Amino acid sequence: MSQTAPWWRDAVIYQVYIRSFADGNGDGVGDIAGIRSRLPYLKSLGVDAIWINPWYKSPMADHGYDVADYRAIDPVFGTPDEAEQLIEEAHRHGIRVIPDIVPNHTSDQHAWFQAALAAGPGSPERLRYVFRPGRGPDGAQPPNDWVSCFGGPAWTRLPDGEWYLHLFAPQQPDLNWQHPEVRGEFEDILRFWFSRGVDGFRIDVAHGLVKHPELPDLPPRTEPAVLGPLSRRDPAEHRCRQHVDHPHWDRDEVHEIYRTWRKVADEFPGDRCFVAEAWADTPERLAAYVRPDGLHTAFNFDFLMCGWDAKDLRAVIDDSLAMLGAVGAPATWVLSNHDVMRHVSRYGRRTVTRWTAGEPYVPDGPLDLDLGTRRARAAALLMLALPGGAYIYQGEELGLPEVENLPEAVLQDPIWERSGHTDRGRDGCRVPIPWSGRTAPYGFSPDHTSTAPWLPQPPDWADRTATAQTGNATSMLELYRTALHLRRDHPALGDGDMTWLETPDGVLTFARDPGFVCAVNLSTDPHPLPPHTTVLLSSAPVTDGLLPPDEAVWLEV
Ligand code: NOJ
Repeated sequence: MSQTAPWWRDAVIYQVYIRSFADGNGDGVGDIAGIRSRLPYLKSLGVDAIWINPWYKSPMADHGYDVADYRAIDPVFGTPDEAEQLIEEAHRHGIRVIPDIVPNHTSDQHAWFQAALAAGPGSPERLRYVFRPGRGPDGAQPPNDWVSCFGGPAWTRLPDGEWYLHLFAPQQPDLNWQHPEVRGEFEDILRFWFSRGVDGFRIDVAHGLVKHPELPDLPPRTEPAVLGPLSRRDPAEHRCRQHVDHPHWDRDEVHEIYRTWRKVADEFPGDRCFVAEAWADTPERLAAYVRPDGLHTAFNFDFLMCGWDAKDLRAVIDDSLAMLGAVGAPATWVLSNHDVMRHVSRYGRRTVTRWTAGEPYVPDGPLDLDLGTRRARAAALLMLALPGGAYIYQGEELGLPEVENLPEAVLQDPIWERSGHTDRGRDGCRVPIPWSGRTAPYGFSPDHTSTAPWLPQPPDWADRTATAQTGNATSMLELYRTALHLRRDHPALGDGDMTWLETPDGVLTFARDPGFVCAVNLSTDPHPLPPHTTVLLSSAPVTDGLLPPDEAVWLEV
């Protein structure tokens, strides 16, 4: 790794889903005080940065992805002063801070949307959003056939007869990015937070901002796979991997916005960084977001969605490195986030499923938690050995599984309601983190807090707490910690190149210079370890020179 390369080319970024990370004030909801109290943990884990899900003032219709004021912190999470203190303290721990920015839509409680509602049809206030008359003689049909990613139509009608667009919940009206005020406002918001010391932004729905000016109906059933796992659309519509001109996803014009944002970031000292949540049909389309005059990095959802299959994984790795490398961008790797089933539970199903974007993930068969955990350990070593940067979703370092049996009465994700109670949504991967103790709330809230965490934690998580795992050499936490520290120190890891080595089917083996080899066995038979001088780290013990199925190893050669 070059000493002068910007930090984001190979950073390990830890995702803090703030309401579930740590509760500092005892109200059962995670907050900034909680994050501050856990900075020593994050430092000892060995991450380079944290990405914090939206912390702005919000009515929480989608847990903060409905922003009412982009310059204010929601009181449930803390105060603006606390945010600045967090940034400063994190920097002192050597950890950079990347908040989420939500430019595709605001909250319906945002001052602009309230003004648009009050001003009525035809007013300039409505031009900042996407208002249209309906179709049909009395305008009772929505303006087009677009659907919300959370289920149901993407349009809601107001009492005055006009409809407004929301690609997500009705409380999340889409902004009109053709409007200069919208562009100017977001550039100001970026400057506001950059000047308070943030090191970058994760851009929500980065591929959705620009809509076709005529808002045409969706194309017939040739539509590509660009909606991401939140989509409630018919999966059969989303199988092809060719780009199709889509009326609201991944339109070419969106890149012009990010060229301006790049200039804004470049106004500030140090290496500030944008990471795009961009669902693109193909790796080529994804690479278009991360050019030297555009955004810096993007999530690699192909890696996340890939099943536990050597051929598929190798193809994703090759495509990602080739396409991103061609535009000079680093690859990134991610296994889980707050929108998808945790990977211990995905990998713990015997059937290998390649998960198609646009298709909700439906677990196939009963969960084998041991199998899922073994594979998750191996996957972590694979991810952290690949060239580029990596994302860790809070709790994956504790090996947390998806909580699949939350009672219906506690479900809060808008998907649950919008799907007419057919899709339980994403609460199962958002259960508050267990820190210590033998019973819930496992140190999530301060001792003696009487308010329960906002989602109930399973009764059998005592052995999964950070405290229970600390110092236990066989724990997931110690595996991550060791891997992150080795990764930081080893000259072969991080940014750079890799070379595949000859291996039997089902085994992935690659070398990185100088002197490093990673091998992952995704087959059902043990395989001999490649030649080496030392075993640096393995996801489970290796004996007799054999790498057992569902295990990975880092070797010095
Ligand atoms: C993507 C975010 O990751 C998800 O949590 C959110 O619901 C949607 N964007 C809408 O903002």
